[in-house]
Amino acid sequence: MKRLTPRDITAMKGGDKFACLTAYDTQTARLLDEAGIPLLLVGDSVGTTLLGFDNTLPVTLDDMIRHGAAVVRGAQRAVVVLDMPFMTYQASLEQALLNCGRALQETGCQAVKIEGGAFRAPVIQALVQNGIPVLAHIGLTPQSIQILGHRVQGRGEEAANQLLDDARAVTQAGAFAVVVETVPAELGARATQAVPVPVIGIGAGPDCDGQILVVNDILGLSGDFHAKFVKRYADLAPQISAAAATYLAEVQSGAFPGPEHSYT
Ligand code: KIV
Repeated sequence: MKRLTPRDITAMKGGDKFACLTAYDTQTARLLDEAGIPLLLVGDSVGTTLLGFDNTLPVTLDDMIRHGAAVVRGAQRAVVVLDMPFMTYQASLEQALLNCGRALQETGCQAVKIEGGAFRAPVIQALVQNGIPVLAHIGLTPQSIQILGHRVQGRGEEAANQLLDDARAVTQAGAFAVVVETVPAELGARATQAVPVPVIGIGAGPDCDGQILVVNDILGLSGDFHAKFVKRYADLAPQISAAAATYLAEVQSGAFPGPEHSYT
């Protein structure tokens, strides 16, 4: 099967709306890929979803490379984007180039995602000029949680204009698409109108070109607290608990393993 490319994602601008998801492991990536999801993000949300941290800041490049390579092994068609973790691209252009280059070389992913608006444009430009496709991420950027908190971004005309400037700047720098997180729906629509590449919203309203959500959230694996923008499409947590409890009971009662699970 032919794999999509970042250019294919850019070409989706203004066409049918599309859905993206995070993925962190081979088996889930295979299922999401088979479902037709065109872009899988190996999000640094792996820190909160799989690794038990309170936020994404402790995630390392080695963590991301391990999970990124696993996702690439599972997905045959989807573009796989690796989220660059905190402090792997902020310190200098050289640091960004070396770390993003390592991400592509060691995982086989097609692109990286980095957070930040207009001030990040020089990094995006350097990456793209050196052959590394970039998915930009503006609005509520989780690696700035200590500064931004969980607040909706872009409220008020000044903040809205800043967000639109950010969208234009990262696009002019060469980003193939832009994730816009946690902004009023009306601003998500304006950002989508403002740039020639797809805007992929997460909590940015219905008018973006695409949407992205965290896979554990849509599957009901993230506990009771979740952001307003999350919709659960399955409720797997009780099913997993029930399966584990039944297994435990069957082992205790001797019902498992039966003859069909035993070697002669
Ligand atoms: O890390 C992540 O999962 C993300 C998405 C929520 C966009 O950045």
